[in-house]
Amino acid sequence: MNTNKNKMFKSSWTYHEAPESTDHIQIKEQYELYINGAFTKPVEGKYFDTINPSNNQKIASIAEASKKDVDKAVKAAKKAFKGWAALSGKERGKYIFRIARLIQERAREFAVIESLDGGKPIRESRDIDIPLAANHFFYYAGWADKLAYAFPNRKVKPVGVAGQIIPWNFPLLMAAWKLAPALATGNTVVLKPAETTPLTALKLAEIIHDSGLPKGVVNIVTGAGATGAEIVNHPEVDKIAFTGSTGVGKYIQNAIAGTHKKVTLELGGKGANIIFEDAAIDQAVEGIINAIFFNQGHVCCAGSRLFVQESVANVVIQKLKDRMETLIVGDPLDKNTDIGAINSKKQLQTIENYIKIGLNEGVEIYQPDCNLPKKGNWCAPTLFLNVSQSHRIVQEEIFGPVLAIQTFRTIDEVIEKANNTPYGLSAGVWTQTGSKIFHLTQKLNAGVIWANTFNKFDATSPFGGYKESGFGREGGLHGLSSYVTFD
Ligand code: NAI
Ligand code: MG
Repeated sequence: MNTNKNKMFKSSWTYHEAPESTDHIQIKEQYELYINGAFTKPVEGKYFDTINPSNNQKIASIAEASKKDVDKAVKAAKKAFKGWAALSGKERGKYIFRIARLIQERAREFAVIESLDGGKPIRESRDIDIPLAANHFFYYAGWADKLAYAFPNRKVKPVGVAGQIIPWNFPLLMAAWKLAPALATGNTVVLKPAETTPLTALKLAEIIHDSGLPKGVVNIVTGAGATGAEIVNHPEVDKIAFTGSTGVGKYIQNAIAGTHKKVTLELGGKGANIIFEDAAIDQAVEGIINAIFFNQGHVCCAGSRLFVQESVANVVIQKLKDRMETLIVGDPLDKNTDIGAINSKKQLQTIENYIKIGLNEGVEIYQPDCNLPKKGNWCAPTLFLNVSQSHRIVQEEIFGPVLAIQTFRTIDEVIEKANNTPYGLSAGVWTQTGSKIFHLTQKLNAGVIWANTFNKFDATSPFGGYKESGFGREGGLHGLSSYVTFD
């Protein structure tokens, strides 16, 4: 009955388009590498295209860094290290504060470019990605002159040159997560953004340049996996920080085995979102939507496995389907949009392949009516119902707007099911009973556990995984530790 009402609502009400303007955006036709404080052409003269995934049109040409370029960047970082590490924390902090303020000043431009290059809804890049990125720089700028308090009675030293490789799902935010703690603790950096979303990192290079940061302290090199591998294998890199797939994480760990390099890996996830019968059901339904459809489900900590207590399963699933009828899938730059474009053709193929796998495994599927745009990469929000633990769509990370739903009866059962995954990154618990929340946070094997909310991020709070989700923590006081050594 409800569903009909929502369908009627949808057909009789249309939102007027509300596109964010792109007039104020400056995007160059071609971007170079940022090495030793200068925008530098790649030695081999190779470039690749970055595409707008909502229409598959080219946005700009991007330099492809070869082994020689990476070597130049690492050498520049190494040369800059002595001076930067010797600077007082207070002085380092000033630069980092300046970068934070410059991001805030140009927040609108960053938000639009993030949505153009990666496909995420403007509401999310405007209200989440960009403010959180600025926040991260502010937060770690504050630590720069307080390291003695962060590590009392210990003498801390920076590690050296950090090689940082980031993914395409939160491009500017991941650059902030990597750069801010590294700089605050006195390290220098070679950072590589993902090949499908390099633009905001290159804009950040412009801001870093404007901030007057000493040359060579931050170097930004663009390219695909081969460029990333050059950073990983460079003998003068002292630390690798990686966020991305578990496959590449394993490769990195193998590649640096037996070297002096420190490493942190933030890899995939298959987060359990658990709804108890005593939860506030409407809020929980909103939480399920946010957990899996935020950023098209391209979220390592997404709540991609839903566990609903049997007594409320019917009502929760009906309400969830009703809510999905009202989701707007489309133009990332439209302020009404809930779900934007899938980041790349390759990722769309991965998701579509998993949907096929689910169907072949005989799982019941639900997708709302939605008119997907003709051009570009799109995927309707999808539920898989009545799944079992052994289904591949329950075990493997899909990284798209696809939710696998199971029911449970008892706490012990749901703990066992939730932990039955190779991953251990995130989980969510929905209940009005505080003691249940404490019980589950002790028993669930996940780095981040949300209670009566989901996908909330904060610079002051550590983030990271267990098992195949990787190791090391980013954010908060914990995030400083991976960038320091002790005398
Ligand atoms: P990926 O792991 O290949 O890409 C992440 C970053 O690693 C990019 O900057 C890429 O250029 C770089 N890279 C690739 N190969 C490398 C190598 N051999 N050495 C060093 N750097 C390398 O991820 P991909 O292929 O784009 O996505 C595949 C799957 O990975 C997704 O479907 C999703 O399941 C997962 N993923 C998880 C992310 C997370 O936040 N944990 C982010 C991106 C992807
Ligand atoms: Mg792109």
